[in-house]
Amino acid sequence: MTGNDRVRGQYEAYPYPHRKPADEAWRLVVGSPSHVLEINHYLFAGRRDLASGFRALFAGGGTGDGAIMLAQQLAWAGGDAEVVHLDLSDASQAIAKARAEARGLRNIRFVRGSLLDLPTLGLGSFDYIDCCGVLHHLESPEAGLEALVSALADGGGLGLMVYGQLGRSGVYDVQTMLRMIDGEDDGPARIARAKRLLADLPESNRLKRNPFIRDHLQGDDAGLYDLLLHSRDRAYTVPEVVALLESAGLAPTAWIEPGRYDPSSYLRNPDLKKRAVALPSADRAAFAELLAGNMKQHVVYAAPAGRVAAAVAVPDSPEAIPVLREQDATALARGLKPGGTLTATFDGLQLSYPLPRLGPAILSRVDGERDLAAIHKDLAAGNAKLGWETFKKDFDALYAGMNAINAMVIRYR
Ligand SMILES: C[S@@+](CC[C@H](N)C(=O)[O-])C[C@H]1O[C@@H](n2cnc3c(N)ncnc32)[C@H](O)[C@@H]1O
Repeated sequence: MTGNDRVRGQYEAYPYPHRKPADEAWRLVVGSPSHVLEINHYLFAGRRDLASGFRALFAGGGTGDGAIMLAQQLAWAGGDAEVVHLDLSDASQAIAKARAEARGLRNIRFVRGSLLDLPTLGLGSFDYIDCCGVLHHLESPEAGLEALVSALADGGGLGLMVYGQLGRSGVYDVQTMLRMIDGEDDGPARIARAKRLLADLPESNRLKRNPFIRDHLQGDDAGLYDLLLHSRDRAYTVPEVVALLESAGLAPTAWIEPGRYDPSSYLRNPDLKKRAVALPSADRAAFAELLAGNMKQHVVYAAPAGRVAAAVAVPDSPEAIPVLREQDATALARGLKPGGTLTATFDGLQLSYPLPRLGPAILSRVDGERDLAAIHKDLAAGNAKLGWETFKKDFDALYAGMNAINAMVIRYR
């Protein structure tokens, strides 16, 4: 059996992540990459009309989390956007299809095949390509990325997720042990042995000591198999992700959540902070990874290197429309005090941002439709002395924190 057959065999037997189509009735799984607002903000400067003529590919779309999320968001927006779900595994694709049917989504096309064959599959080119949790399972992630880039339309970009080396501390120790004591067993026997080993891990074991890895504790066999029994997986540091992107002529436009990759968000010492801020952006992200030590995956948006500077939206004009990614602005604003602190915790890492005086008042007016000019006008109606400069300074401070924790992005009409 080749390595590729083994990977395909795993996902036929254990489609991952484990999903029940009936659950679509009560919830939409949302995440990164591939949230419609993130795609627009981090790849199209907030200015792409994603409802019209937009094509997205989910390469190794699996049981459908990303494809279903984006297809649903595009369907809500109306228009003729198309999502293509490409996967090697029939079993995974059947689950993704059943989820699409449960939602009545008609904008997804399902294609069985390998992303490595993209240059010859005749699927056309895509404005956006998601490849989440797949490249690190390929024999050559570089060849996989090159195949993806061959299907990227001019002006398009990608959303990728690969495993993070530092945050997966302990995973490879257990993988190696299981390989050392493996027989020619089938999946259930392997899973049973893995569970016995997990139950026998001493307190000192690195996986046991890693509180951020939980896939093996959720009682779901597909998660346990993917984490500990995968026939081929590797993990990346930030510089290795950057090198992988470079091999295909790409560069990062953003890491998610942005604040986690910015050491100035959580260094307290002013001298250290100043030095970290002065680093080139890729080094800053690498420094943050070493400092935080908890990144178990890297979610990165990427575009051809020459396009990176223009790809990310900036709220530099009154026409910028701030949009909350998920949260309800009124409820969020109620929990914040002017001059207080905005905090968020990611896998044990706490990020804190000072809240400007007008922060809660601005936030409560963010509805995804009003632009900065309209929000300023509304606030100034109750305070004639509130000039644009003062308003914008406070908006920028609010945005710095909200965007860093991936709660707010920008779009333009
Ligand atoms: C870990 S799952 C991730 C699924 C999905 N992207 C997600 O994030 O939920 C990896 C998926 O990649 C698929 N896959 C692996 N190698 C592939 C290849 N060469 N071409 C297409 N799909 C592949 C597997 O069948 C599996 O469904």
